[in-house]
Amino acid sequence: PKKETITSLQQAKGKRKIVMITAYDALFASLFSESADIILVGDSLNMSFNGKADTLSVTLDQMIYHTQAVCNGAPNTFVVCDMPFGSTNTKEEALTNAVKVFQQTGADAVKIEGGCNRAELIKHLTDNAIAVMGHIGLLPQSVRSEGGYKVKGRDENSFEQIIEDAKAIEEAGAFAIVVEGVTPNLGAMVTQSVNIPVIGIGAGKLTDGQVLVWSDMLGFFEEFKPKFVKRYLEGAKLVKEAVKNYKQEVESGVFPAEEHTYK
Ligand code: KIV
Ligand code: NA
Repeated sequence: PKKETITSLQQAKGKRKIVMITAYDALFASLFSESADIILVGDSLNMSFNGKADTLSVTLDQMIYHTQAVCNGAPNTFVVCDMPFGSTNTKEEALTNAVKVFQQTGADAVKIEGGCNRAELIKHLTDNAIAVMGHIGLLPQSVRSEGGYKVKGRDENSFEQIIEDAKAIEEAGAFAIVVEGVTPNLGAMVTQSVNIPVIGIGAGKLTDGQVLVWSDMLGFFEEFKPKFVKRYLEGAKLVKEAVKNYKQEVESGVFPAEEHTYK
């Protein structure tokens, strides 16, 4: 498939759904590139790849390393790199760090969590030729300050706030927005409130596209399945069975067979 651009993604709104998936390495990025419009190098890699309990401790250099790997594996796919917690505290710092991502990786855009309170900072980046994807609704980087992961839009205040967030980010020049963990009603309202594509995760079906974390949707992460995740593969089960089979064949001498042995 042809590589997306911010123009082709914006033209998709209302015409076709945008398909986004995370990846953290070249191998999976390459596999996903056949079907995904966008690959996100999410800071969720701090959990899925690094085994931490939340996203907060991943560093910019770690994000850059994984983004380089993903770009190596999927050179013809639109790649977005998450700006990690603490890398965008001021607009100057945010620009310096986003420029670093653009100079050291092949990423096509960066993603920044936050709404109205981040609009000025996002404008500073878009004014300086950084393509920015917004991220509103449930913000995993705020898990500690919010005291947990909480679905948004169930009360009128948060409902209105998140629509204002979407408008402010569009106004700041973001080319697209991820909306996470909101009621389907709010997902639909956010999507209608802006002219840029809105990509949902746990936001119902009426957004312009969907994003899932690869290890959730392919069933490699077993401990916990959020309600919004659909498992398209029982990855953990298949891998465990395969490695158990390997163990049995090594222990019994079935592997390696004649065909795996040099003459
Ligand atoms: O880090 C991530 O994987 C994300 C998606 C959940 C949108 O930000
Ligand atoms: Na993220």
